Formats: sequence, structure tokens, C-alpha cells
Amino acid sequence: MACASAEHEREVLYSLVSRRRTVRQFTDAPVEVRALMRILACAQGVSGTDGKRGAPSAHALYPLRLTVIARRVQGLQPGTYTFDPQRAGLDRVAPGPTPGSLLAASLADDLWLETAPVVIVISADHDLALRHFADQQPDGLRGARYVDVEAGAVAQNLYLAALVEDLGGVLVMGVDDEALARALTLPAANKPVALFCLGQDQRS
Ligand SMILES: Cc1cc2nc3c(=O)[nH]c(=O)nc-3n(C[C@H](O)[C@H](O)[C@H](O)COP(=O)(O)O)c2cc1C
Repeated sequence: MACASAEHEREVLYSLVSRRRTVRQFTDAPVEVRALMRILACAQGVSGTDGKRGAPSAHALYPLRLTVIARRVQGLQPGTYTFDPQRAGLDRVAPGPTPGSLLAASLADDLWLETAPVVIVISADHDLALRHFADQQPDGLRGARYVDVEAGAVAQNLYLAALVEDLGGVLVMGVDDEALARALTLPAANKPVALFCLGQDQRS
């Protein structure tokens, strides 16, 4: 039985990874809140009694935060929410960003920043990471490298979780960091690292 289960897990994981693709065109359909919550939990929720998460973090420091811009989510008022990894819940912190402000921050006119039903912002407390790992590298910047690598792990979890929810998404990093930070309502001390636009694939 154990072997059959291991074989099944292998097939599922390898199939998901090989099917993962970026999706940039979304239907008007709202994202269901239950699917959104599962995706967020997969990306950054505490997933065991050891307090750890599905994405790795250097020294288990967890400098990343997820902020959700909900435009069209069935079961959730539009607005900006922060994700609490401990209880896998959302807390409303602000209205959504001014329409057009995410597109204005794009370096490549990424329209999907405005059209996606949901935009998940991966942000980080860079100072925390820089301080924590200051002695690991002569220039003291190792913490910044760790933040970017950790955001990549979170992004892959987002891509794969979106796929199993029959949704699609795109990781967006081609942005003017300062313009983006101004457009968003993020936790104090956090700066945006990447955005993940999420919705139903127009091609499916
Ligand atoms: C670090 C990183 C930054 C990216 N930034 C953007 C972006 O700013 N805009 C965008 O439309 N796609 C962006 N992408 C998505 C890539 O264009 C996409 O992954 C690539 O074309 C390969 O296609 P695939 O994801 O379907 O395999 C980014 C991907 C990565 C990994």
C-alpha cells in the first residue's frame, strides 16, 4: 500500500510540475474564497505542529508576508487583506489600490495587474532579514538574497496550488518598486518583492 501511495504521489507531483504554465488572460469569473484560502495556506500557511510552512525559510525566520488584493472573490468583499499564516485567515486592512495604480507601476504595461480577480503581493521585512544574516557575508547583504529565494519558493507554491484549483496565474516582478510600494497598503516595515495575479484561465 505504501508503495502504491508513493507511486501516486510521484505521478501527481511530476504531472503538476510539468503542466505548470503562466496564465495572463483571465475570465470575468470570480475566484471562490475557499480556493483562495487553500492557495494562500499552501504558499505561506503554518502546515505542522513544528510551526513550519510549505515554503522553506532560512533559519525559519519567515520574513515574507502575503497581502491579497481581492477584486472579484466570491464570499469576500473587495479590498486589501493580510494573510495570517498561524490561523490561515485574512484580515481586511484597506480598500483596494486606486484603479490603474498597479498598471502605472508596471515596467511593461502588464495589463493583468488590473484585470486579474486577485493579486497576491509577496512582501518582505528586508531589514529583519539583513540584520539576522548580517554576519554571514562581508557586505552584510545575504539576507536580501535569502528573501528573493524564499519568494521564489512561495511563487512556485502559488503556481502549483492555482493549478490544482483549476485557476491560473502569473508572477510579476517587472515593476517600479517605489511606485508599487506607494500603490499598496502593506504591513509596516514590509516592501513588495513580487506580485502573483490569479484567476480563471480564459483559454480553459
Ligand atoms: C522572477 C520572475 C519574474 C517575472 N516577471 C514577470 C513580469 O513582470 N511580467 C510577466 O508578465 N511575467 C513575468 N514572469 C513570468 C515569466 O515571463 C514566465 O515564467 C516565462 O515566460 C516562462 O513561462 P511559464 O511560466 O509559462 O513557464 C516572471 C517570472 C519570474 C520567474
